[in-house]
Amino acid sequence: MSELESMIDSFGDVAPGYLDWARFGPLSPAVRAEMHADAEMLGTGRPSGIDLVSDRTAEARELLGRLMELPADEIVLQPSTTHGLSHALFGLAGTVLVPAREFPAVRVAAGRAAEARGVLTVREIDPPDGIVRVENVAAALTDDVTAVALSLVDFRTGALVDLAGLREAIGDRLLIVDAIQAFGVVDVDWGLADVVVGNGYKWLRAGRGTGFARFSPRARERIVPVLSGISGMVGDAGTLGLPAPREGAAAYSVAPSDPLAASRLAASLRELLDVGVADVAAHVRDRARDVISLADAFGVPVLTPRDAHAGIVALLPDPADAAALAAAFANHGVTVTARGSSIRVSTHLGSGSASIDLLGAALADAAARRVVAIDFSAERGPDPSASEVFTIEIPEEDALLARPSDATDDGTPEQSDEAVAFDGNIAQVEIAASDTAEVVIATVEDDTDPYASDASSGADVPLIVHSDGESDADVSGDDEHRESVQI
Ligand SMILES: Cc1ncc(COP(=O)(O)O)c(C=O)c1O
Repeated sequence: MSELESMIDSFGDVAPGYLDWARFGPLSPAVRAEMHADAEMLGTGRPSGIDLVSDRTAEARELLGRLMELPADEIVLQPSTTHGLSHALFGLAGTVLVPAREFPAVRVAAGRAAEARGVLTVREIDPPDGIVRVENVAAALTDDVTAVALSLVDFRTGALVDLAGLREAIGDRLLIVDAIQAFGVVDVDWGLADVVVGNGYKWLRAGRGTGFARFSPRARERIVPVLSGISGMVGDAGTLGLPAPREGAAAYSVAPSDPLAASRLAASLRELLDVGVADVAAHVRDRARDVISLADAFGVPVLTPRDAHAGIVALLPDPADAAALAAAFANHGVTVTARGSSIRVSTHLGSGSASIDLLGAALADAAARRVVAIDFSAERGPDPSASEVFTIEIPEEDALLARPSDATDDGTPEQSDEAVAFDGNIAQVEIAASDTAEVVIATVEDDTDPYASDASSGADVPLIVHSDGESDADVSGDDEHRESVQI
């Protein structure tokens, strides 16, 4: 078995349908084993055990250096990405460009630093869709800009920034990169950035507390280690006065790091180095493309740039479809992150066919529930007034399943301007109309697909509903749909 195959195998404990690696990466078996072993060693009080586990900090830095092909003294462990970014941004002067829709870690650290020290100005750029391209950054560069700070892979859109292009565009200015959504799954020359900050609890499967930062020699000349604490100072506990910060990246450290976190990080990095980031990155991209293909097949718009992404795919369904899509994911055991009307699907090396099949089933289910309102007035006689054309709304997630008609005691329906609830078989459609409405037409896009267990027909089924309670499906409706309409 190749190293790559055994790494794919190591995802075996992850539940099928887990497609949320951008939020949290379930710990790898190697990470868990190392953590348990090192925890045992810390349980005895034997100095040899304590020293051995303490050495994990240096080991993790050395492994990070090998992975980034950079000297280990440029690397310092951090509790989190945000800690590392804070070291970089609080020590910065001049003007820093940050994407307006960036994850808050960069924006907030920059804003707080600007307020606290008064030597930094934050300028936001907000390109269309929040997708930052080299030309957007280049267009915002002015002489006062001293640094650009952004994510290599955007947490929301999944867009992968062109690091080499960015480096070239910004010249001598500092390039500060939040690498958390990229590290381990993007094969890039990290030396192009002056500051690289990340954490291992997502794509490295190493758990929280496994943060790290790289500060280039140039970054160290320009970024004052204002947050340097006891682990970033020269001397020891007996040193009096205000000691100087240490040489190298070690200056950007507040307090000694957690050796158990370092041991988790080291275990993850060892495995990754054995396989090679290039191979992992290629496979992760392929898995993300599987997601994009499925989204295309089921007509769900994709926000993520198809030519520049890693493991994150952002779906941007029509807002009317978003709740149905989120519910379908939940019903099929697909774990993703839904924010507003966008849904983030994130795949890793081990997101195999079982997960992709579940995703397909969920997308098929949601497609089967999709509803559009169509004005058939041109075919049905006189034009209805605007008030007779109904907006079909997808109900909230918990109302998605079929519900009985809101009929009053005497059996007549209550008037309502909202319209539909479907069950999984599209067996029941509830449409309410005003007294004067002549027709209300809902088309259930009931696409036949290989994933839908209950797809009944490949044809769209227009429903035509009269205000007297009669309904017919005179275009291509079938009995089941006709009978299901209650009004
Ligand atoms: C782009 C980005 N930066 C930073 C963070 C937060 O990282 P940490 O908890 O390591 O500070 C996240 C978390 O999702 C993120 O997506």
